[in-house]
Amino acid sequence: MGISGLTKVYGLFGDPVEHSLSPIMHNTAFQALGLDCVYLPFLVKSKDIASAVQAVRALHLAGVNLTIPLKECVLPYLDEVEKEAELIGAVNTMINRDGRLCGYNTDAPGFLAALKAAGFNPSGKNAVILGAGGAARAVSFALAQEGVRGIHIFNRSVEKAEKLAADLNAAYQFPTTAGDLSSDLAAALKGAELLVNATPVGMYPNHNAEPLLTRNQLHQGLLVCDLIYNPLQTRLLKEAEAAGCRFLNGVGMLVWQGALAFQLWTGEKAPAALMEEAVLKALKGEDKDG
Ligand SMILES: NC(=O)c1ccc[n+]([C@@H]2O[C@H](COP(=O)([O-])OP(=O)(O)OC[C@H]3O[C@@H](n4cnc5c(N)ncnc54)[C@H](OP(=O)(O)O)[C@@H]3O)[C@@H](O)[C@H]2O)c1
Repeated sequence: MGISGLTKVYGLFGDPVEHSLSPIMHNTAFQALGLDCVYLPFLVKSKDIASAVQAVRALHLAGVNLTIPLKECVLPYLDEVEKEAELIGAVNTMINRDGRLCGYNTDAPGFLAALKAAGFNPSGKNAVILGAGGAARAVSFALAQEGVRGIHIFNRSVEKAEKLAADLNAAYQFPTTAGDLSSDLAAALKGAELLVNATPVGMYPNHNAEPLLTRNQLHQGLLVCDLIYNPLQTRLLKEAEAAGCRFLNGVGMLVWQGALAFQLWTGEKAPAALMEEAVLKALKGEDKDG
């Protein structure tokens, strides 16, 4: 379908956006459903967030995704923020409803959808989370909502882990602990069924960096989930495989957060399988020139 004066424009705001897979994923979905819509990347620095949000109104953009470093700093500029996104403190999807800008967080339900697709039900389970940034917050609140038994957060800066634990405790009634990366991770992992890496350690181009955990700290009863999707199998996931654990990369979360944003924007069921295919093809470099 060609672009016309009627085409609805969606986009991604963030810095950087050059390597984002969201344009490929959403444009594949729009084309598959024959929707007169297009999705474009926009480089937006955090200092420009106010004018970028104003541009959504001025240019009548239909909706945008927000990525690093804008997911948190965008909140004060929105007209409405759904409760879950408010609790998490981050918005990754915005809808323009006739000039009224509404913020959502689809990372959290996207993570849960990926877990469930992998056959893991978090209810009653203990989880260990590495990291306390935006993704760790989305994952923690998603798990909390599903009735986990406990969440143990380990972060390089312990204050951020403690803040996340306190925010979880204020909203939910289950045990949380917080520590830094030199804390006794092995002890926490012994009683856990889920480990989530929500740090960029192991992500391309630093994919050879030492993982935060090695195989002797893992056990077969763990699902090891790395939110990184490039590379598809990080060094942490290789350690997990060697330890006999089940493991999951970040592709599922990426696709499901996109599918849920697509559904919010268009009201149509997203073609998630096609979106995943497009992402995997791009990650494997099949559609690149060499
Ligand atoms: N699959 C998906 O759809 C999806 C969605 C969102 C994010 N992600 C991935 O999740 C990861 C985190 O993203 P984010 O948005 O949460 O980023 P963020 O808000 O910048 O948080 C990064 C976290 O990682 C920690 N960290 C950074 N570098 C580290 C290092 N060298 N050693 C130990 N800890 C380190 C930070 O610790 P400090 O607090 O000490 O700085 C912080 O807790 C990224 O790899 C991102 O690609 C994936």
